[in-house]
Amino acid sequence: MVSDPVFHPWAAQAKVAQAEVTHGAGAWFGNDHGDRWLDLHSQLGNLHLGHQHPTVVAAVARQAAQLCTLAPSFRTPIRDEAARHILQVAPSGAQKVLFTNGGAEAVEHALRMARVTTGRPKILAAHRSYHGATDGAMGATGDPRRWPLAATGAGTVRFFGPYRYRSDFHATTDAQECERALEHMRRLLAYEGPETVAAIIIEPIVGSNGVLVPPDGYLAGVRELCDRHGILLIADEVMTGFGRCGAWFAVDRWGVRPDLMTFAKGVNSGYVPVGGVVVGEVVAEHFAERPYPGGLTYAGHPLACASIVASIGVLRDEGLVERAERLGTDVLRPLLDELADRLPIVGEVRGAGLAWAIELVADRSTREPLVPYDAPGRVHPRMAEILRACQARGVWPFVAANRIHLFPPLVITEDDLRAGVAAVGAVLAE
Ligand SMILES: Cc1ncc(COP(=O)(O)O)c(C=O)c1O
Repeated sequence: MVSDPVFHPWAAQAKVAQAEVTHGAGAWFGNDHGDRWLDLHSQLGNLHLGHQHPTVVAAVARQAAQLCTLAPSFRTPIRDEAARHILQVAPSGAQKVLFTNGGAEAVEHALRMARVTTGRPKILAAHRSYHGATDGAMGATGDPRRWPLAATGAGTVRFFGPYRYRSDFHATTDAQECERALEHMRRLLAYEGPETVAAIIIEPIVGSNGVLVPPDGYLAGVRELCDRHGILLIADEVMTGFGRCGAWFAVDRWGVRPDLMTFAKGVNSGYVPVGGVVVGEVVAEHFAERPYPGGLTYAGHPLACASIVASIGVLRDEGLVERAERLGTDVLRPLLDELADRLPIVGEVRGAGLAWAIELVADRSTREPLVPYDAPGRVHPRMAEILRACQARGVWPFVAANRIHLFPPLVITEDDLRAGVAAVGAVLAE
C-alpha cells in the first residue's frame, strides 16, 4: 500500500505503520497476505462476541433491508426493543436509555444530565481514568491523554482512587486502602463544598488506566457519600459493561446502583457505532416535564439498535457473561499467576472476568515500573518492542504505560486463550 489518506487518532501521522486487516472471525483477525493474529484485546476492548458473529450480522442485514435510518424523535419497534433489552440487564432502578454514537458522547451527556439536574457545577473524577476524547469527556479524564488539552475540564476536581499495588495512601491491606481512599474523598468533598458537586464519575473497575479492581466496600462507600450530599453517581461502564468483568456490569459485582451509567463497546461489540446512558430515577424524573437540552441526529440508529438486540440475545443465549467469569477465574487467573511466580519482570497481575493487566517492573522489590508513566499518545520503545514481539508470535494484546492488558473476546476458545497467554509469557521470558 502507498500513501495513507486516513488521519489516524492519537498518532503522529508520519509515523503510523499499522498492520493491514481485511477479515476477522471470532477471536482471530488477519489479511490476504497470510498474516493472522489472536485478538487478546478485543480490538479496543469492544469485541465481546468476536468478529462476524452470524446472529448479529444477520440482524443488522435484516434491519438494513427494512429501515436503515430514522430521526430520533420517532418511535420504532427496534429502538424500543434495544432500550428494553438494556434496561432488563441494567442494575435495578434504571428507567430509560439515551442513545449516543459512542462512549465519549455518552459521558458528555451523563455529565450534562448531572449538572442540569442538580444545578451544581463540579464533577469529581479520578486521576487514573479515561472517559473519552471529546472535550467534556477529556475534561473528566485524568490520564496523560488529557495533557495537551489542558484547557478542558473546568469544574473537574480530581481524586485518587484505590490502587493497592501503588497505594497513594500507604496502605498495606485492602481494608486500609478502601477506608483511606474513602477518607480522602470525604476530605476532598469537605474542602470543595459538597453542595457544589453535581456528580462523581467513576470507572467501577478502572480500564485502560490499569485494570484496577477496587477493594470490597469502596464503591458502596462512594455511593453512601453521594447519597449523603445529593451528588449523583455516574458509573462509566463503557469498558467494563456487558459481561467483560464477569457480571453484566462491574457495579453488579458489589451490588451498587449508579444514578447514571454510560455504556458502549460490549453493548453490540462495535458492529455499528453506538453508546448511551442508562438513566436512573432522579434524572428521569427531572426531565419528565422539562425538555432535555441535547440530542444527536443518529441517536438510536436503527442498525445500531438491531445489533444491540441481537448482541444482548447472544450474550444471554450463549451464557457469555458466566463464561467470562469462569474463564477468568479458572483459566486466565491461574495462567497469569504462574507467569507472575516465574518471571521477575512481572510485578503484579490483576483483573476480573476477562479484563486483566500484567504490570511490568524493572525491580520487583522496589516495584519500580519497567517504563515511566508516559507522555500522551506515546508507547514507550521498550513496551513497543514487547508488543511487536507478541505480534510476531501471532497474538495481539494491548500495551499501556508499563502494562500489558488482556481483554480477549468472551467467545475465545479455552485452547486459544491458553496459547495466547503462553505466547505473551514467552515474550516476557525473553
Ligand atoms: C471507560 C471509558 N469511557 C469512555 C470511553 C470512550 O469511548 P469511545 O471511544 O467509544 O468514545 C472509553 C474508551 O475506551 C472508556 O474506556
